[in-house]
Amino acid sequence: MSYREAAPAKLNLSLNVLERLPDGYHTLESVMHTVSLHDDVDLAITEEGDWQISGEGLPIPLNETNLAWKAAEIYFRDSGLRPGLRIHIHKRIPSQAGLGGGSADAAAVFRILNRHYELYDDAQLTERAMQAGSDVPFCLFGGAKLVRGRGELLSDVSPLRQASVLIVKPSCACSTAALFRAIDEEPERSAADTEALCNAMKRGSLRDVGVLLQNAFEPVACRMYPEIAEVLDQLKDSDCLGAILTGSGSACFALYEKDPAAWSAAEILREKGLQCFCASFTETA
Ligand code: C5P
Repeated sequence: MSYREAAPAKLNLSLNVLERLPDGYHTLESVMHTVSLHDDVDLAITEEGDWQISGEGLPIPLNETNLAWKAAEIYFRDSGLRPGLRIHIHKRIPSQAGLGGGSADAAAVFRILNRHYELYDDAQLTERAMQAGSDVPFCLFGGAKLVRGRGELLSDVSPLRQASVLIVKPSCACSTAALFRAIDEEPERSAADTEALCNAMKRGSLRDVGVLLQNAFEPVACRMYPEIAEVLDQLKDSDCLGAILTGSGSACFALYEKDPAAWSAAEILREKGLQCFCASFTETA
C-alpha cells in the first residue's frame, strides 16, 4: 500500500520557556499553528523487506537519523511487526528554522502508519510522538493549539482564519540546544501573555494577535545571530500587524490582514536576497 500525506510547517505565535527540568529539558508554553507551507511524505508499506529513504527538494539526511525514519522505528517498537518501508520526502520546509519541518515529516509517518495498522489511540500515539521530539505531538494534529509541558499537553485554540503570513528564512541556522543554554543564562526572560493571545484568537481580532505575538527566544537569537534582528526590522517596516521569530529560529514571520500586503513585502525582501514563503494558516495537519 502507498500513501501520501502533507506535512505542514508550524509557527509559534507565542513561546514561553518555563522551568529547567533535572534532565536539562525545559517546560514550555506556546501557541502553535500549522500553515500551508508543507512537505509531502510518501510511504509505501510492503509485507516484508528493507527500509529505504529518499528525498527531493531541499536536502535532508537520507538515513536512520532522519526523524521520519525514527518515527517508524518508534511506531513499530514492541509491536512485533517489521514490514518493508519506502519513505520519500518532498522537502520544502527549511530545516534548523524553527518551522518544525523534521517533526512534521515524523508526524506524517505516524499518521500514515496508524491509518494502516490502527495500533494506537490518540493518547498512545501522542506518547510515541513525544519520543520522536517535543514538536511531534502538536504536528500529529496541527491546527491551532496551546502546547504545554515538554510538548505533550495540547489544548484547542481558535484557529486564525483569513490571515496571511510571510515567513522569511535568514541564511543562518540556529541550534536549538545552544539557544536553550543561552536562555538559561538570561537574568530575565520576556513573557508572552498566552491567555490574552488565546482570547484575541477567539475574538478573531487579528490586530490584537499581531500586538501579542511574542517569543522568549527572540532577544537571545537576535544577539547571537544579528541577521535575525535585521530580518525582523525589515518585516516590521512592512505593512504588517506584527512580526516575530518562530521557535528557536532562524525563520521569522509577519502577520498581515490580506494576502497582497504579504506578497508585496515578500517581493521587497526577495530582492534583498532573502528566502520568503507566503502562506496561510491551516485548521488541521
Ligand atoms: O527537540 P530537539 O531535539 O530539537 O531539542 C534540541 C535540544 O534543545 C535538546 O537536546 C535540549 O537541549 C533542548 N530542549 C530543551 N527543552 C525542550 C526541548 C529541547 O531544553 N523542551
